Amino acid sequence: MAARTSGEVALSAVHEPTRRAFDLRVRPTEARIDAHALQHNLKEARRAAPRARICAVVKADGYGHGAAIAARSFLAAGAEWLGVALVEEGLALRNVGITAPILALGGQYTDYGLLLQHRITPLVYRPDMIESLAAAARSRGVTADAHIKLDTGMGRIGVQPEDLGGLLDLLEKRPEVRITGLSSHFANADLRDPTSTQKALELFADARRAILDAGQPLALSHLANSAAVLDLPLSHYDMVRPGLMLYGAAPAPRFSDMADLRPAMSWVTGIAHLKHVKAGTPISYGHKWTARRDSVIATLPVGYADGYRRSLTNKGEVLVRGKRVKQVGTVCMDMTMIDVTDVPDVREAEEVVLMGDQGEERISADDLAGLCDTIPYEIFCAIGTRVPRVVI
Ligand SMILES: Cc1ncc(COP(=O)(O)O)c(C=O)c1O
Repeated sequence: MAARTSGEVALSAVHEPTRRAFDLRVRPTEARIDAHALQHNLKEARRAAPRARICAVVKADGYGHGAAIAARSFLAAGAEWLGVALVEEGLALRNVGITAPILALGGQYTDYGLLLQHRITPLVYRPDMIESLAAAARSRGVTADAHIKLDTGMGRIGVQPEDLGGLLDLLEKRPEVRITGLSSHFANADLRDPTSTQKALELFADARRAILDAGQPLALSHLANSAAVLDLPLSHYDMVRPGLMLYGAAPAPRFSDMADLRPAMSWVTGIAHLKHVKAGTPISYGHKWTARRDSVIATLPVGYADGYRRSLTNKGEVLVRGKRVKQVGTVCMDMTMIDVTDVPDVREAEEVVLMGDQGEERISADDLAGLCDTIPYEIFCAIGTRVPRVVI
């Protein structure tokens, strides 16, 4: 047997026990994933775009919800495709037995053979990508399907509209690559001002015509994200690619009434430690909060390493016994404190909702995002890997 390098030994020695330790779930902090809500939201997308196929976007571990449970829920509710950012994310889905078509939206590929082997469809937008895919297809004796990615104003990835002709000329000489789709992404579909979105739609329609004229099969044209699914039927074409709405959040407040979206994640913890402090007692790093009255302070075993962001310091609210209570003092890496003085009979181990419903109250991803000056996407994705996802 070949000698192992010390690096290999270190990996197996450290990684395995760590994973098992997290399986023990000693800590009460967890994210509960409601598979029924995921399915319900997929059906809401279907209702909004009844004639289009749905490519359910499950990148970034299903927007933090768990890619496998998200993918399975969306497929069970009728999604036809799955969208990931990274090839690795597509492989992870294949590893858990998911056979549905997968689109790798991120446009960064190094091993085109791997894409072909696992039936992960790439987005191509440069000559070198077409050459690499063609070479991989030739060496396997197959024809490779790819979608062209067009930059219609996002300025991220994609062929510029004026360079599309060059790609189509090259494709004529590379019949090993078949263009079965055209993809783009809106930069501003959530804004009220339609100018940039209209421009994107025009560029997309022109490119679509050019690709069809070049004799490519082009079965799927797709550019609609959640905002466009909800509010821009003209953009639906053959397929839509919703992400956020499937997890139960609206891309902006004005979309909230356009569909019945159910938050699919609730994030809970429990009181780990409870203490009575005198007025004037400071709490946490930097003493940025001081009790103004005799207070009851609870310590929660969750912190910014779990995605409970430090910018929630002295701003966040959580739910205890159906009441909203204030987060107090600097949020630490693994712990945060709350003021439960006004919650009668509060006990250690009591459940605390960081995001979700309790009684009549709700703290949404939008609420947290508003307090942190960010968007719900980032709140979901930031919930760390050491927070177990529990499917309910
Ligand atoms: C290429 C692409 N398509 C679709 C989506 C889904 O967008 P949304 O989550 O706003 O529906 C994203 C998300 O960022 C994306 O990057």
